[in-house]
Amino acid sequence: QTEISRVRNLDKIQMGKYEVEPWYFSPYPIDFATDAEMVYICEFCLSYFGEETSFNRHRMKCTLLHPPGNEIYRDDFVSFFEIDGRRQRTWCRNLCLLSKLFLDHKTLYYDVDPFLFYCMCIRDEHGCHLVGYFSKEKESAEGYNVACILTLPQYQRKGFGKLLIDFSYILSKREGKLGSPEKPLSDLGLLGYRAYWQETIVDLLLDGKVEANIEEIGFASAMTTNDVLHTLQNLNMLRYNKNQHVIVLTDAVVEQRERQKAKEKIKGKRSLDPEKLIWKPPV
Ligand code: COA
Ligand code: NA
Repeated sequence: QTEISRVRNLDKIQMGKYEVEPWYFSPYPIDFATDAEMVYICEFCLSYFGEETSFNRHRMKCTLLHPPGNEIYRDDFVSFFEIDGRRQRTWCRNLCLLSKLFLDHKTLYYDVDPFLFYCMCIRDEHGCHLVGYFSKEKESAEGYNVACILTLPQYQRKGFGKLLIDFSYILSKREGKLGSPEKPLSDLGLLGYRAYWQETIVDLLLDGKVEANIEEIGFASAMTTNDVLHTLQNLNMLRYNKNQHVIVLTDAVVEQRERQKAKEKIKGKRSLDPEKLIWKPPV
């Protein structure tokens, strides 16, 4: 699919109250993408328009106020909706087109049927505003619990990516499985996951609720043994004693986590409550 590796083709998009500059090429219809200075995207149904007048006409008619699926999680900060790619093909294809603007993949999957889409929103009096999402294969032979993951640029670097990642592991726990994101990860994806894995493992050990071994940590976090092992290696927390791994919570790691926690408190960063997930694994 050569067309997809071409350069960025949209100058600017408008979505809700935000104007955003795309990062990469996305295969929006050709004529429309080259002619329009601004592409208007309906933040609820994700339809796209090259002209403001047609966009405004659409907004008068569009009745959608949230992603077209079941709300499976709600707390006082965010909601998560589960959308089936087969049942909501157009909406999910529009979501893929939109997210391709910020993903450096060489391929875009028009075939959305094999995926579920978990969409995170913040709510106000106007509706549920999409902040980010991840897709997940209905059946993953490799045991991946995330295919694509995205925080819309207007919401990045505020802790939402961490909530998305956490939600993917909360689902895996409910399924009684260990999970890992699809490889390869982008640079930003890797940064986000590394940060999440590190703090999850360090917090589990600091809480003292798990035995300091790789299997226990994996079981408690739904992280694969491989991801636990690599994270511990990155943190320089593994020692070898008579052919056995020993996990050491070093002063450096503890101090870094303390500083991070203080920062999170100041920024008012949120976390999810697994008990608020109203969901059974699809059969
Ligand atoms: N530079 C350095 N570190 C970064 C970073 C950046 N631009 N973005 C995220 N991180 C790390 C930081 O440690 C950050 O914690 P901090 O802000 O307290 O320092 C941590 O990740 C979590 O950041 P958070 O705000 O929760 O993530 P986010 O909402 O910005 O979302 C992604 C992270 C990966 C989802 C987002 O960058 C994104 O959508 N990227 C484009 C799509 C993509 O590449 N997806 C992954 C491949 S499928
Ligand atoms: Na990627």
